[in-house]
Amino acid sequence: MCGIIGYAGKENAAPHLLHGIQRLEYRGYDSVGMATLNNQKLTVLKDVGTVSEVDKKLHFTTLPGTLGIAHTRWATHGGVTKTNAHPHLSCDKKIAIVHNGIIENYKELTEKLNGHLFISETDSEVIAHYFEEKLKSKTMKEACIAFMKDIDGTFAILVIKHDENNMYALRRDSPLVLGVSQEHVIASDLYTFSDKTKKAVFFENDEFAIISKEKYQFYDRTGKEVKKKVHEFIWEQEESKQQQYEHFMMKEIMEQPAVVKRLLLSLKTDQKDNFEKLLKLIKESHKIVFVASGTSYHATLLGAYYLHQCEIEAQTLIASEFEHFASIEEDTLVIALSQSGETMDVIDALKYAKSKKAKIVAVVNVPYSTVQRMSDLSINILAGQEVCVAATKSFVNQVTLLLSIAQHFGFDVSLDELPEKIISVFKRAPLIEKIAKELAPTRDIYVLGRGLSYPVAREIALKIKEISYIHAEGMMGGELKHGTIALIEEGTPVISLVCNHDQAMLSNVKEVEARGAKAIIIGTEIGDIVVPTNHDGTFGILATVVGQLLTYYIAKEKGLPIDKPRNLAKSVTVR
Ligand code: F6R
Repeated sequence: MCGIIGYAGKENAAPHLLHGIQRLEYRGYDSVGMATLNNQKLTVLKDVGTVSEVDKKLHFTTLPGTLGIAHTRWATHGGVTKTNAHPHLSCDKKIAIVHNGIIENYKELTEKLNGHLFISETDSEVIAHYFEEKLKSKTMKEACIAFMKDIDGTFAILVIKHDENNMYALRRDSPLVLGVSQEHVIASDLYTFSDKTKKAVFFENDEFAIISKEKYQFYDRTGKEVKKKVHEFIWEQEESKQQQYEHFMMKEIMEQPAVVKRLLLSLKTDQKDNFEKLLKLIKESHKIVFVASGTSYHATLLGAYYLHQCEIEAQTLIASEFEHFASIEEDTLVIALSQSGETMDVIDALKYAKSKKAKIVAVVNVPYSTVQRMSDLSINILAGQEVCVAATKSFVNQVTLLLSIAQHFGFDVSLDELPEKIISVFKRAPLIEKIAKELAPTRDIYVLGRGLSYPVAREIALKIKEISYIHAEGMMGGELKHGTIALIEEGTPVISLVCNHDQAMLSNVKEVEARGAKAIIIGTEIGDIVVPTNHDGTFGILATVVGQLLTYYIAKEKGLPIDKPRNLAKSVTVR
């Protein structure tokens, strides 16, 4: 994953780079580093820890120079160590690089770079040595062309060298965008510089650029100049400060009523045309295949359920398995859901769908993201910047959009009341917190659902796993007796989602209670936590909000790093 940023301007680079990596930190937070150029000398500061921890120790803003690069890491190759942190240097310390992606043939390249001293365990270090070697006989531009040919894998790379005020930026499959103003900022996403400029140039695959404070020039893989469009972008976002909240997760949960309202309004106004085009595409398609990962996949499970209720053929596949299981034809409509719009598995699935000539619709939260730019049509869920690694408000808005689609095809749901109903769930927070405190010492939790509450059971279990580090399984109530029930012991917590006295679910509750389980019901009329709806459509969202709050309070009780859980990153840009 990782986030990268480069700065070329008139001012000192370090404060700009520090501000940028703070905004990019959601992409990885196990180590951080920066390199700047001053008087023909590259200086690097890097260490293990979050941006603020490392900055407190190393004082990034003491780095001099108006050209620099920085990196925030989510380890792929090599452990979390200072040596493995970026930037990486060439042997002569005259070239510094930062990289997001994976160099697949790094072993083969390393073997060819005889005589170079490799000090890290990363795949990325080879890039610095590669350029050092090529510069013995080539210009830097020629070396970039050779790099495009020689390297297998994915990359967004920034390179600076001791004797030039230029930065070199290269891209294949990993996100990279140039922000244009009086100065030039190149970063993994728009958000990094969206508070400074609203003008951006997007890198396409296999393009590279030479960037200085005065100008920039893009090239294709053969070195031919490419004229690029400068996009004026609109960045719809919530205030990205925590404000009165202790954690972004709680802030983002609390924003849900407002972002639902914003999306519903926009589907009737500024996104009306695209929304109608989407409905038409659904009508004309032979079948709908959703594709997504993680939490977004859970939203698509609900989407497939809703469309199925409207007698529209719909199925969903997890993005990383798409190619293995999808049967896609020209008249299939593929709808990709992705908060970040940069998930590599989703991008790969869409490439496959495109090769089969299917039409693609993107449902994203981050505008101008790769998934959006790959699609024939896109809808923005307008959840605003989501800083906490765990998805909350983006899921609720994905589901709100899917419910709006289903409503047009006859699914009976009243969405205008949804924001108020979410607020009513917030009023149950003290009760939810009490239950959370009882659950905090638990090792395992099972979450059961059926039909529309099955995807919600999975979503609640995923939140519990990633934020509160408790093993949780979200499963179909009906499947329990086919094996998993063997794990139920005296006191094992089993959360059951019971919508409208669902008798089959109530039987499952009885079955686990008979084996000593501690049964907790989230229901519409009966239960330990009752949500204010008797409607199938909105139950999914309201039960999810209960699950979000439950997870939050369990993690808080355990004193865990709620916004940045271990081993995770917000945007998963590797396979
Ligand atoms: C869980 C979570 C992840 C993401 C998944 C897909 O809270 O956030 O499971 O949902 O990595 O990400 P996007 O939606 O950006 O494609």
